[in-house]
Amino acid sequence: MKARILGTGSCLPEHRLTNEDLAGLVDTSDAWIRERTGIEERRLSRRGTAWLASRAAEAALADAGLEAAQLDLILVGTMTPDEFCPSTACRVQEALGASQAVCLDVGAACSGFLYALATAQAYLAAGMARTALVVGAETLSRIVDWTDRSTCILFGDGAGAAVVQADETGILSVDLGCDGSRGSALTCPGVPLRNPAVSQGQEAGRDGEPSVLRMDGRAIFQFAVRTVPGTVRRALEKASLTEADISWFLFHQANRRILTAAARSLGIPMEKVPVNIGQTGNTAAASLPVLLDQLNRAGKLRRGDRLALAGFGAGLSWGSVVLEW
Ligand code: ACO
Repeated sequence: MKARILGTGSCLPEHRLTNEDLAGLVDTSDAWIRERTGIEERRLSRRGTAWLASRAAEAALADAGLEAAQLDLILVGTMTPDEFCPSTACRVQEALGASQAVCLDVGAACSGFLYALATAQAYLAAGMARTALVVGAETLSRIVDWTDRSTCILFGDGAGAAVVQADETGILSVDLGCDGSRGSALTCPGVPLRNPAVSQGQEAGRDGEPSVLRMDGRAIFQFAVRTVPGTVRRALEKASLTEADISWFLFHQANRRILTAAARSLGIPMEKVPVNIGQTGNTAAASLPVLLDQLNRAGKLRRGDRLALAGFGAGLSWGSVVLEW
């Protein structure tokens, strides 16, 4: 049994922050950001992650022609939940009225949507669910250091969702991986451990450091251009397909130069690689489902088309899914 995508949805906040706006906050320029990243503007949310996720989920359900009550699983990939608990997935369940669904969040940073999609596939294949909602949602603006020009130019807020159902076709193969030994390349500290067992001044965790993103940009860049082609090739091999069988390659939107380098390495034309980073920036787990929804709503996907989706990010983590639309 496979997991087939029946519908997609997305929600991008209205507020646009342009490169010019950023040049008023930090020492940067529109020309630098465009040339090095391909980003022109990004969206900032006044609402939380669960709210964005719920709007994307409603749109995906409507596109699939299903009711919330038919969902028996809700998975949300996010690295920016509004709360430690309850999970964002439980908040989405409440907003939708999806009372029959099991709900959990998946933490895999920018790979989060693909990890969640692969988890949905596993639940469906095991007969533990029949219809699942898979969401990637972020309010990265809450963990961006708005004084750090090397990171604040990159990220944006948003959410995307897909409804998947058990079917004869759908996800054909999955390739996932992590290298925790390189986790320090992209971090955001949590709350330090402060309890009576811990002496004052010796709190575990990184006390005193704010919960903002710190990144070794060059290390991530090199990791991405090497990892994306490798994971796509492995997923294609598992599906007994080649690059020529794929109609669209959807890559995590982190930097336009990473997209062109990956396409070059795979020997695929950029016409098969949709790009929306100019308008969204890097929205982590939301990036792939937003891109997928835009492609779907533009009428560019035909039943039977084969798609390869690939992501990478903090962890370090990566993943690919090859599917039949
Ligand atoms: N404006 C102007 N100058 C800048 C800016 C800026 N916003 N940021 C950095 N610079 C300067 C640097 O200080 C440096 O100056 P120097 O040469 O005088 O030292 C120069 O520009 C070059 O800096 P680099 O860091 O080498 O620039 P690079 O070309 O590598 O681009 C970037 C930086 C855009 C961050 C790139 O490395 C990148 O995209 N990396 C991948 C990041 C990524 O994908 N992260 C997300 C992973 S997904 C997830 O899990 C969230």
